[in-house]
Amino acid sequence: MHLMLRNTGRGFRRAAAAAVLACLAASPALAQSDTPAEAPAEIEELAEQLSTYVFPKAGPYTPEAIVIGNARQIEGWARSAHADASAEAFAHWNAEGEIPGTCAVCHSGAGFRAFHGLDGSTPGPLESPIPVGGVVDCETCHSRGLAEIDMIALPSGVQHPAEAAEVPCLTCHTGRSSGAQVTAATADMDPDAVNAELRFINPHYKVAGATWLGGYGGIGYHYPGKTYSGRFLHAKPVATCLACHDPHALSVNEAVCLTCHQTGTPEEIRIARQSYDGSGDTAKGIAADIMANAGLLMDQMTSYAASVAGIGMVYDGGRYPYFFADANMDGVIDEAEGRPVAYNGWTPTLLRAAYNWKVVTADPGIHVHNAPYALELLYDSIESLAEAQGADFGALGLLR
Ligand code: HEC
Ligand code: HEC
Ligand code: HEC
Ligand code: HEC
Ligand code: HEC
Repeated sequence: MHLMLRNTGRGFRRAAAAAVLACLAASPALAQSDTPAEAPAEIEELAEQLSTYVFPKAGPYTPEAIVIGNARQIEGWARSAHADASAEAFAHWNAEGEIPGTCAVCHSGAGFRAFHGLDGSTPGPLESPIPVGGVVDCETCHSRGLAEIDMIALPSGVQHPAEAAEVPCLTCHTGRSSGAQVTAATADMDPDAVNAELRFINPHYKVAGATWLGGYGGIGYHYPGKTYSGRFLHAKPVATCLACHDPHALSVNEAVCLTCHQTGTPEEIRIARQSYDGSGDTAKGIAADIMANAGLLMDQMTSYAASVAGIGMVYDGGRYPYFFADANMDGVIDEAEGRPVAYNGWTPTLLRAAYNWKVVTADPGIHVHNAPYALELLYDSIESLAEAQGADFGALGLLR
């Protein structure tokens, strides 16, 4: 028997094993027992779906000439982050064997389908956990029922009307918190007094959909009396996730950018004629202004922690909850019982600013998804920390 399967990922390896089984069962000559048991219906069904993968029973044949349906999509997807079962985003729960329902919505295709009721269940929050091992599989985005979903609830409570093709992206890439949550957590507190009840609030990761929706989506902490840019409409031909991202490989088609911009390198693109970071340099990409101001904000957070909160703060991007205590300010994270001490000097002012810093840096494509919103959140956060320290904010020369 000649059988060749493309080894494109976990799901396919599993399917491959099933197909081999099905072939064995269907071929009396190869079956282990003389009277082969009938193959279970499920396996037969799988074998039927996979018929294009099965080579002729006898050669000669030319493997390169055999057409594999959807090969381009499968190849792109199999190499993408969505298919990487070993990534922390999917393997995080392996030791427990199951993913809590609240997390599975975005960390497993099966969880996503259950949340939207695409598997026949009632749509809504998951009541039971989902077994580990799932990724963002084909059926996550190719389920019949998806076409009927036209509204996505953001963590801020905003109901966003979404197009069917974007419903999956906007379900998973909109983060887990909102500025309103930060407002509520810090309400009625002395803005610059350490409050032991405060904990870092994490917007979560790769929140492109939320930054793209800007002030209207409400992921950032919005300072009272300020206005914020809404959804970044960009330009009509690039108004959707799929105009730039291949839904399978996830890569960005930089040739698209070149139809309007002078460079296809996203970090080098700039339209703005003013400098936002006080450098006066308008030759660099807008991404550099955002990064410079994010750096300034981190500096302000660190100095505010030391001078106003009175407890040094050290950031470690590799460890949750990212901000740690350094009470004696020697630059080393404090430890208690062998474990790092989470930062414990939060004041409302510091928490709001740190939250915004994390929102901006949680989207590696924010310069493209919504540069104006990123610059506004950074400006306002730096301003609030500088003022609380009595520093001369104007001397930084920033623009909003
Ligand atoms: C709204 C969708 C959504 C929900 C709900 C969600 N996540 Fe995530 N999570 C994501 C996305 C998107 C990423 C980005 C993956 C990446 O790049 O690592 C991510 C990444 C992670 C990572 C990897 C972080 C890293 O440093 O690589 C962990 C761990 C994680 N999430 C834990 C959780 C837990 C625990 C829950 C439930 C309490 C949860 N997530 C709920 C969307 C979600
Ligand atoms: C993250 C979402 C997502 C995942 C996962 C996904 N697709 Fe798609 N797929 C799409 C979208 C969106 C389109 C429509 C593209 C368009 O209209 O430009 C599409 C289109 C297609 C098409 C039509 C041809 C084309 O490229 O427009 C095929 C075939 C296809 N997908 C197969 C697959 C297979 C097979 C898998 C799994 C290996 C898969 N897709 C996984 C989102 C996804
Ligand atoms: C079921 C949830 C889910 C859906 C639906 C989903 N994503 Fe993702 N996406 C994730 C997770 C989780 C990761 C991180 C995976 C990892 O770290 O390997 C990710 C990673 C990515 C990345 C980062 C790629 C990289 O190289 O790091 C991009 C870009 C992306 N998604 C875009 C999209 C787009 C566009 C759509 C809609 C067509 C979409 N995603 C739909 C959950 C989802
Ligand atoms: C105008 C084009 C454009 C649009 C529209 C767009 N993106 Fe992006 N996206 C990019 C670029 C460019 C990057 C960053 C790539 C780089 O700089 O290398 C990026 C980065 C990302 C990343 C992080 C990838 C990584 O490597 O960590 C995710 C996730 C993502 N986009 C998802 C989305 C989602 C979801 C949407 C729709 C809500 C969307 N994007 C809309 C162009 C776009
Ligand atoms: C159809 C034309 C068009 C295409 C295609 C296009 N852009 Fe744009 N882009 C614009 C316009 C117009 C603006 C200014 C929009 C605004 O400020 O409201 C802009 C703004 C930007 C900005 C912010 C610049 C700044 O100084 O604030 C970035 C970054 C960017 N685009 C990146 C990209 C990338 C990356 C791609 C390709 C994936 C792309 N664009 C494709 C027209 C386009």
